[in-house]
Amino acid sequence: MASNASALGKDATPRTAPVPPATPARAGASHAWLRAATADLHAQVDGLFPDGIDSAQTYRRYLLGMHRFTADCEVATGHGPRASSWLAADLAALGVPPMPTRRPRRALLDDARRLGWEYVLAGSSLGARVLLRAVARLGLDDMRGAAFLAHHAAGEDWSRLQPRLAALDEGDARRRASVASGARDAFAHVRACFARSFDALSTDTP
Ligand code: HEM
Repeated sequence: MASNASALGKDATPRTAPVPPATPARAGASHAWLRAATADLHAQVDGLFPDGIDSAQTYRRYLLGMHRFTADCEVATGHGPRASSWLAADLAALGVPPMPTRRPRRALLDDARRLGWEYVLAGSSLGARVLLRAVARLGLDDMRGAAFLAHHAAGEDWSRLQPRLAALDEGDARRRASVASGARDAFAHVRACFARSFDALSTDTP
């Protein structure tokens, strides 16, 4: 797992997304295209957890990386701390100090790029539903150590985002490209945060 993280840290992320179709063929096509435009990066992040969350140490790495990503994402998207405060509580419950940001961030001015970042955080709730079951097997729950996964998996961020993704079908190709570019930046940041968290917690303690 740690070697995966270092390899990821060295990878250059292609910053440009594929050119979107000028007119999506059907409703939801822009979302399908956005998913395809970021699938390689999602697969890399998913690949860091080849056995899911199968130990307390793997879970600590996940929490630490996600805390850094969500805190930066909340600044980038102009939202107040929510996911990051659940993650901070989970880290405190498990006695893991959070990682500081590497560079101060500002809210993104471009609405389309912001939507790309929001897509990545909201979409992670789908994976959270899977991970929550694994974390329950470690004996953790929303009251201790798993507040983020419990709230995020049950939350409505993903369903609330759907009309905004659907509206991309009515927009222009340039806007779609900006959304995808923002989403790729966000996924690259997720990957960088996990590279740091895997390095910080590199020993395989139970
Ligand atoms: C850590 C292990 C992870 C697993 C096992 C996982 C698993 C999944 C699964 C099962 C889905 C639903 C796929 C579908 O129904 O089509 C999904 C979607 C998604 N995940 Fe993950 N995920 C993980 C980590 C992450 C992380 C860390 C992020 C970002 C912070 C993320 C972002 C997304 C996004 C944006 C989608 C929505 C894709 C779409 O339908 O447009 N995932 N993930």
